[in-house]
Amino acid sequence: MCGIVGYIGKREAWPILIKGLERLEYRGYDSAGIALMESGAFSVYKKKGRVAELSKFVKNNKLSGGVGIAHTRWATHGVPSDRNAHPHVSNSGDIVIVHNGIIENYLAIKKILINKGYKFKSDTDTEVLANLIEDIKKNTKVSVEEAVRLALAEVTGAYAILVLSKDEPGTMVVAKVGSPAVIGVGKNEFFIASDATPIVEHTKKVVYLEDGEMATIETKKDKLTLKIKTILSKKTKSPYIQTLKTKMEELEKGGFPHFMLKEIFEQPESLRNTIRGRIILEKGNVKFGGLEKFSKELQNLKHLVITGMGTARFTGLIGEYAFEELSGIPTKVEYGSEFTYRKSADAQHTGLIAISQSGETADTLNAIKKAKQDKMLTLGIVNVIGSSIARIVDAGIYNHVGPETAVASTKASTSQAVLLVMLAVYLGRMRGLSKKSGEEILKEIQKLPELVEEVLKNAKSIQKIAEKYKKSPNFFFLGRKYCAGAAMEGALKLKECSYIHAEGCNAAELKHGPISLIDKNFPTLVIAPADSMYEKNKTHIEEIKARGGKVIALVSSGNPEMKEIADDVIYIPKTLEMLTPILAFIPMQLLAYYISVERGNDVDKPRNLAKSVTVE
Ligand code: AGP
Ligand code: GLU
Repeated sequence: MCGIVGYIGKREAWPILIKGLERLEYRGYDSAGIALMESGAFSVYKKKGRVAELSKFVKNNKLSGGVGIAHTRWATHGVPSDRNAHPHVSNSGDIVIVHNGIIENYLAIKKILINKGYKFKSDTDTEVLANLIEDIKKNTKVSVEEAVRLALAEVTGAYAILVLSKDEPGTMVVAKVGSPAVIGVGKNEFFIASDATPIVEHTKKVVYLEDGEMATIETKKDKLTLKIKTILSKKTKSPYIQTLKTKMEELEKGGFPHFMLKEIFEQPESLRNTIRGRIILEKGNVKFGGLEKFSKELQNLKHLVITGMGTARFTGLIGEYAFEELSGIPTKVEYGSEFTYRKSADAQHTGLIAISQSGETADTLNAIKKAKQDKMLTLGIVNVIGSSIARIVDAGIYNHVGPETAVASTKASTSQAVLLVMLAVYLGRMRGLSKKSGEEILKEIQKLPELVEEVLKNAKSIQKIAEKYKKSPNFFFLGRKYCAGAAMEGALKLKECSYIHAEGCNAAELKHGPISLIDKNFPTLVIAPADSMYEKNKTHIEEIKARGGKVIALVSSGNPEMKEIADDVIYIPKTLEMLTPILAFIPMQLLAYYISVERGNDVDKPRNLAKSVTVE
């Protein structure tokens, strides 16, 4: 994963780079490093640990320079350590590089370079690329730009790189395949980053580099110029400058102690933004601008595959029920990682719906590439505007929930689930779902933001439950039908933030094995709303209680009996069965949040994780 940041211009580079790294820390936080160029020499500082450490060092040591690159790492090759931290410098000290991605054939290249006498200080694939660039530059006497291009023609894998050379102090080279790179265009200054968040406070003008492209920023007579070309064919193209719409306040915590809590509480508003302008009640239908020109293809679809990873796949499980119920289209949900490597049946009549908050998840991106090869229609439900997935799919729907910064997904997930139900209405209306039924569902969707507000009013009582269960070493999350996926999401949320072992499964499955784990120390949260599965869920709860297990029941408001049966009860407002998981998500997010805070964890950045997983 990793985050990369670069600056070239007249200002002091380090404050811009450090701030940029802070914004990108969600992408990885194994180590951080910076390289600055001043009077033709590099100062490089890198260290295991967080950006805050790097920031202290840079301030205390008064580093300076108007050109620099920086990195926050999520290790793929070599343990998190000082020596594996980026930037990596080539043997002679000419080339310095930061890299997000994986150079797959690095070992073969490393052997060749070792035979030529190169020495390696780190275990990373990245250092190999630094030395390969140096070797080509030295032996062919080309510019750093051409050396980078020739080196990249030899490597396979994924990368977004920033490269500086001591010989050409006013030049920065950027290149990308697979991993993201955005270039911010300022007034005679450029900002480069893995996403737009480090750039937005400096300029709204950005260029998204495409796969297989490289950019060179050069100083000519004190003026900076940007040129873009394709790595393999050297074809130049004029930069396509877009205007960013992200607001600065969306990037800050807004008075909440953590981004996760802020994002949980933003959900009434984020759902309003997701729904806004898309519901046409009088037609009992939905309007998705991006899908309009594919209406014929959408009408002809016979199968749907929903793909995504983690939370995105769990929301897909809600979509699976909704698509079959409302549109009658047989639907299955598949991990992006697995879809990529399995044979697609009847690809011609199958549509792929890829769900991704970041729009950069490699497993999901690869699934889309595979679907495109098979000539499937590809649709995306994506939050980050201009992200790789948003750009690669045939047609897309944006979540419009603003930046999600906490590693644990919250507001994106509720938005994904509601968009799936809306898409099911849209596809259903093409296939015989009545206007009246469409209207009924859409009216309920319009009420969701208010219902979420009601759920959030119970945050204090959920905090108390968190206090009670914070020491449990294990947890089950159960649900049926639409809420089975929600139970899996509840378990994921708890385990990723609190480090408690949690399993989420279909409640009916419990008696087929997992129930043997139940004892008085193994609590279970059962999602048992007033829907078609209520009686079944009640039985599951009784079965757990009969074995001495503790139960937290998540039920609909007005439930008269559950407080007699369960140990703790959480109430959510009544809504349609297909929308209930959206409301059920919220207390489970809060439970995970409060337990994690109680346990003293770094809630926004849980250990071993990264917000955007851009490696397979
Ligand atoms: C969510 O809480 C997780 N951190 C993770 O499972 C995430 O949903 C998954 O990595 C997919 O990310 P995406 O939505 O950005 O593709
Ligand atoms: N492969 C590089 C490393 O391990 C970059 C990692 C990444 O982008 O995930 O340092």
